[in-house]
Amino acid sequence: MDGRDLVRSVRMVRAVGPAQGLRSLRAAWRRSRADARALPPRGAERARVPGEARDAEPLPGGGVIHFARSSLRVRVAAGGAVFCGWDGAGPEPSYALSGECPAVDPRVVLEPDTEGGWRVVSERVLVVVSRFGAVEVRTPGGAMLRRELPPRWWEPVAEGAEGGPEGDGRCAGAGAARWVQRSEVAADARFFGLGGRSAGPRLRDGVYRLWNTDPGGAFGPGDDPLYLTMPVQLVVADAGTHLVFHDNSWDGRVTLHEGVEGAGSGHDRPGTCELRMDGGPLRYWVVAGTPARVLLGWTALTGAPALPPRWALGYQHARWGFGGADEVRRVVAGYRERGLLLSAVHLDIDHYDGHRVFTVDRERYPDLPGLAGELRAEGVRLVSIVDPAVKAEPGNTVYEGGVAVDAFVRDTQGEVVRGVVWPGESVYPDFTDARVRKWWGALYAERLAQGFAGVWHDMNEPVSFAAFGESTLPRSARHALEGCGGDHREAHNVYGLAMAQAAYEGLCELRPGERPFLFSRSGWAGLQRYGGTWSGDVATGWPGLRASLSLVLGLGLCGVPYSGPDVGGFSAVPSPELYLRWFQLGAYLPLFRTHSALWAGRREPWEFGAEVLEHAQAALRERVRLLPYFVTLGQLARLSGAPYVRPVWWSTPRDRALRDCEDAFLLGDALLVAPIVEAGAVGRAVRLPRGRWYDTATGRAYDGPGRVWVDAPLSRIPVLARAGAVLPVAGADGATKLEVWAPAAGRTGGGLVVPDCGDGWRRPEVERFVSRWEGDRVVVERRDGGPAGYPVRVRGLAGEEAGRATR
Ligand code: NOJ
Repeated sequence: MDGRDLVRSVRMVRAVGPAQGLRSLRAAWRRSRADARALPPRGAERARVPGEARDAEPLPGGGVIHFARSSLRVRVAAGGAVFCGWDGAGPEPSYALSGECPAVDPRVVLEPDTEGGWRVVSERVLVVVSRFGAVEVRTPGGAMLRRELPPRWWEPVAEGAEGGPEGDGRCAGAGAARWVQRSEVAADARFFGLGGRSAGPRLRDGVYRLWNTDPGGAFGPGDDPLYLTMPVQLVVADAGTHLVFHDNSWDGRVTLHEGVEGAGSGHDRPGTCELRMDGGPLRYWVVAGTPARVLLGWTALTGAPALPPRWALGYQHARWGFGGADEVRRVVAGYRERGLLLSAVHLDIDHYDGHRVFTVDRERYPDLPGLAGELRAEGVRLVSIVDPAVKAEPGNTVYEGGVAVDAFVRDTQGEVVRGVVWPGESVYPDFTDARVRKWWGALYAERLAQGFAGVWHDMNEPVSFAAFGESTLPRSARHALEGCGGDHREAHNVYGLAMAQAAYEGLCELRPGERPFLFSRSGWAGLQRYGGTWSGDVATGWPGLRASLSLVLGLGLCGVPYSGPDVGGFSAVPSPELYLRWFQLGAYLPLFRTHSALWAGRREPWEFGAEVLEHAQAALRERVRLLPYFVTLGQLARLSGAPYVRPVWWSTPRDRALRDCEDAFLLGDALLVAPIVEAGAVGRAVRLPRGRWYDTATGRAYDGPGRVWVDAPLSRIPVLARAGAVLPVAGADGATKLEVWAPAAGRTGGGLVVPDCGDGWRRPEVERFVSRWEGDRVVVERRDGGPAGYPVRVRGLAGEEAGRATR
């Protein structure tokens, strides 16, 4: 036990009480003993590199290059995504891919390159493999996007075989061989992604761990790793944008160094990325193009984001520690009386009977279905927390049901692994087994019968409280891994993803007419297929507010568009100003939810004084007005992978100043939101992409690119609209109207609208609009020339001269 462990133990005893503290101590001992027994320390290892290229074999979409001690499969898919697999690793099986591995592009050619190397020529990228196994990914014009140096493996001496291990094709090719791959990118490149990171969205020089982790207390910028990591990097450089995904769920570390232009004797020093994995296959995908193309390609591989129902785009209130049904009623009435439109109330673990998942505390909630019905009648849904750990206790139906179908994770001796979570000694379903997913998915029938409309997955990294060491299952714990068999080292990072799959598929079966609403604290590449995520326990404070924006932006670039923070922060009572600024930011994020810890006070807007209430009412009114726009953005995310919340460089990735801008974002194409992220600020500098932008509060126009100063009194945060934008908004009567921001003189604009399709599966058409000047009038019509078909309001006509932006 080191100093950090000690601090954690003290914190834990404070949070969970002495009895749980003792159990956590026992669980930590059990865990470390199990691993000591089953995972002996690494013995002698031998390093291996691919060696020299001997020959190559063309195959559809590319081919295999044989080296002295390994082989490399290069396979270009029809949409242009490049797969590289060393040592016989193929793209499947994979927890990230959404289904069938994408078909290959039959036009791709493998041909000899200079100096004994090979190259794969495709429409969107050129892959050049050197004689010793360096792999360069270039644009068709030849500009270098990424250069991977030859990988290196460290193999246990006993297992190492001349020529390197080859996967058997059915399983991903586990293996205890550690490996490292070092890559170079352009000196001007910036790194983003790696899942949800608090110190971002631009990932600066440092080490980022790939191991889903509950930080065990509230987190702020710099706490790493967090709950949802993934080996997905988005790299933005002048030469182009690319995404690289290492399809390997083992523990790993990514060390990033941004490059320096004109370093040393005037030469550029490239950016570097070093990936060290503790095991598992060395296989990766590269998708290149504009940011929009890259996300489109990434969703083609890993699946379209699930579409949240419209109500999940409204404002939601969560609380750990609702006293019971009457308090829920009181809170909902409080919102109603103050004209604050509430969409959902989330019930945390305290609504369970003794913290047992899929149960209800009947004393506090004597008639939960009745309460759900009452709330539903006034447009408020109930959302339930669902934890994976099941209290190990005879008489607990979920536990007994799980035992009957052999659902729980076992150790190497065949004993069910026990951990400790809120209900005490608990066991963990093995979601990497399709049979167990089916059993677990069916349990959501109970939640539906209680009247819940959506679920919130928590503690699924998975967490087992531990007084020392890692707060999760033993690394040696066994998992089915879809019939391939393996241990927690491989299953840990996909545990939350597989739990989400179980719930999503279960809910689809139980209620086939409705799209499930699910968001999950942990996950991995592909989580978007089943739902979204949220920040987890973000620390109350201005740094926490900034970290929460970093998470939403980073996750969106990894293909998970629906997320948001605990508005107000999880861990303490926010000042009225901090609460308000967080609320104003939350109003522009897909998941707009207040939440807090048991001990961290309330989050209803009226708890922070009359002034805060008035401004929160305005922010919420604006959210409601923008709901049709959020619905459209959700649909566009489903169709194209483009997140609702995008970095300001999204359409102009070559604008280097924008690449470094981390405190503002684009909401779709039309709006630029610049939250207030520090105390006392009543204005802020905003860096604009090129083109004309209007301050939506004053109508004042500014011409980008460059920086402008925009006022931000307590009543609002700066929101700018792109000239020419057409976006759907709700009128006072709730009907959709088009809001149009006047194009700059001589320019045109436009926008997309996707109408709400209800809570079912109907897929509405995308409606396309253009805006243009006709004499001294701005007109809006459908792209095919038809009339708009909606009432139109044109804004930005004040005719003022545009303000100048400074570089
Ligand atoms: C941890 C979650 O992150 C938090 O949101 C929740 O309130 C607590 N668990 C209690 O369930």
